[in-house]
Amino acid sequence: MNEIKIFSPATVANVSCGFDVLGFCLDSIGDEMLVRKVDKKGVYITKIEGYKLPFEADKNVAGVSALALIEEAKPDCGFEIEIYKHIKPGSGIGSSSASASGSVFAINELLGKPFNKTQLTYFAMQGEKLASKSEHADNVAPGIFGGFTLVKSIKPLEVLEIPTPKELYATIIHPQIEIKTAESRAILPKEIPLKDAIKQWANVGSLIHALHTSNYELISRSLQDVIVEPHRSKLIPLYNEIKLASINAGALGCGISGSGPSIFTLSKGIEIAKKVESAMKNIYSETNIVFETYVSKINTEGIRII
Ligand code: HSE
Repeated sequence: MNEIKIFSPATVANVSCGFDVLGFCLDSIGDEMLVRKVDKKGVYITKIEGYKLPFEADKNVAGVSALALIEEAKPDCGFEIEIYKHIKPGSGIGSSSASASGSVFAINELLGKPFNKTQLTYFAMQGEKLASKSEHADNVAPGIFGGFTLVKSIKPLEVLEIPTPKELYATIIHPQIEIKTAESRAILPKEIPLKDAIKQWANVGSLIHALHTSNYELISRSLQDVIVEPHRSKLIPLYNEIKLASINAGALGCGISGSGPSIFTLSKGIEIAKKVESAMKNIYSETNIVFETYVSKINTEGIRII
């Protein structure tokens, strides 16, 4: 095999209570990438469609993660990468991580799969670091593993796969404003009160238990973020209104997707997920905010060959 085309899905990081550790994989939106082997060693980004991004491999997240992989694999060939971006950079649904993980997934396939998913997550993290100026794997891990993931540790990297309840659907609304991850990290407090930490880790534990037992009611009561949301929600127009409307429409919970501005909800069943989409749309339709919405099943496969 000399050439491969893949779909690299969008992802939702944090999942309310799990800042920097929890994430899940979407299905209805993602980038496409074409990667081919070439004789000349190195990584060459030859095409980018959709959004303006750097072509230099060491300045592009897909290039940086690919370079990290080939430094370890030392293959006898190089790679050309074509990126067809559908996920807007700065959207909060893992745009940079889809590029970073897509290139390493594809190169690994072309090399006969020398690396496992944890190693691919590590390489992808190197690209993600370029975009967000910090090391976290809560977007790249669900893209590579599929479903829900918990990043137990980044040094050494340890990713746990969490089961996905069958009837769980996500609804996303993406106001078309850009929030840079580095900036929305900078506004967070460096220290937090112990009482907030206690609430947050109780919610993480109960969310993991609820996902394991398909307990939708407990999922609902666990999707709470007392640490990050109060700060970041101020950056997102009509965040509280969207949240209230989603919950009233039947969503199990609503939170900021990654570092925003996208907002995610989880619902039991596609019918409720669609009702939530209408409720969210109604809020922004009364403003001049340009937005996109997506309803998606949870993608338990992750990146796939197309
Ligand atoms: N956990 C990260 C954050 C995800 O919220 O800053 C965004 O890349």
